[in-house]
Amino acid sequence: MPHSTRATHKRPEIKTRKRHPYNAETPPDLLRKSFITPTDSFYVRNHGDVPEVDPQRYRLRVSGLVENPLELSLEEIKGFPKTESTSTLYCAGNRRRELMETSPIPGKVAWDVGAAGNARWGGVLLRDVLREAGLKGEVRHAAFTGLDGDVESGTGEPFGGSVPIERATADGALLAYEMNGEPLAPEHGFPLRAVVGGYVGARSVKWLSGITLQPEPSDNHYQAVEYKIFPPHVTAENVDYSQGEMLGEIPLNCVVCAPENGETLARGPVAVRGYAISGDDRGVERVEVSTDAGRSWTEAILTEGDGPAAWRFWETTLEPGPGSCEILARATAAGGATQPRRVEEVWNFQGYANNAWHGVTVRVE
Ligand code: MTE
Repeated sequence: MPHSTRATHKRPEIKTRKRHPYNAETPPDLLRKSFITPTDSFYVRNHGDVPEVDPQRYRLRVSGLVENPLELSLEEIKGFPKTESTSTLYCAGNRRRELMETSPIPGKVAWDVGAAGNARWGGVLLRDVLREAGLKGEVRHAAFTGLDGDVESGTGEPFGGSVPIERATADGALLAYEMNGEPLAPEHGFPLRAVVGGYVGARSVKWLSGITLQPEPSDNHYQAVEYKIFPPHVTAENVDYSQGEMLGEIPLNCVVCAPENGETLARGPVAVRGYAISGDDRGVERVEVSTDAGRSWTEAILTEGDGPAAWRFWETTLEPGPGSCEILARATAAGGATQPRRVEEVWNFQGYANNAWHGVTVRVE
């Protein structure tokens, strides 16, 4: 299958993080500009080159523990009732750069805060297709496989990953053929991708070729080896990949998008804005900001977003004193769960799921 190495639909402000395969993130100001991230600003996380798929010849295979294995054309998939939902894709490697500053993480993309974006997805409910296939009683996981066979891991197998069947059959799990009202762009998974609301982006498999219903999680490299989280003392040298936790729900997180790190500000009121996210159904209940290293906090206003699958936007106004000032932010979920304070507490050798308090340092003159 032919592959292309470039994305053709992105604004020039998008920051390329890796050329081959193409990986790019949204700068903080664009990220916070609109609640729905326009496709031309949306981050791209590819583990291999973008496959060029002929929509006429495309087929989705549904197999494994099902009564009726399916092989569906795009037209047949579009024959299921259409559904739309707003859902944030959040890369598990987002904010890895801060982890790398604590201790090196060789060979990984140094994502800042923009490997996340919120889109309006159009497609069909995954559970409608699974119902047509007829799930057998032993099914526990839905395993997705993509068409990108040349992935960085060098295993030769395509990218893949799975979600527990409860997630696959929930409202937020889609087989999407549209993003923000348009057919999926090639780099976002044309002609069909999974979108699993509330789960780390790695499970929203692009260029979807197959769904296997099975008793165990996927044994794909990107589920069994990468996108797993290990405690801080585990290293590449002593790791046992049969251990560790497969990433699932997006951990509670909160990011300052404005002002930006390193900005110089005039004295006076400063608008502070950002996003917060939580993949579980407790949602983000509160966001607070601090300019005194967390001794005192000011509550921000949650402006947009109220579902577990989409991020929330927040904002407040501060008046920091002259000189250097760190603006910290943290979120609290319903029930009181909050974020770890320091990146050292969450450091892991593959650099995933950094949800320590986020801060930007500005100069006030
Ligand atoms: N699906 C395939 N087939 N190949 C990939 O490399 N990357 C995953 C996921 N689905 C990936 C994939 C990861 S890690 C993320 S964060 C999201 O796609 C990114 O989706 P996007 O590039 O549309 O923003």
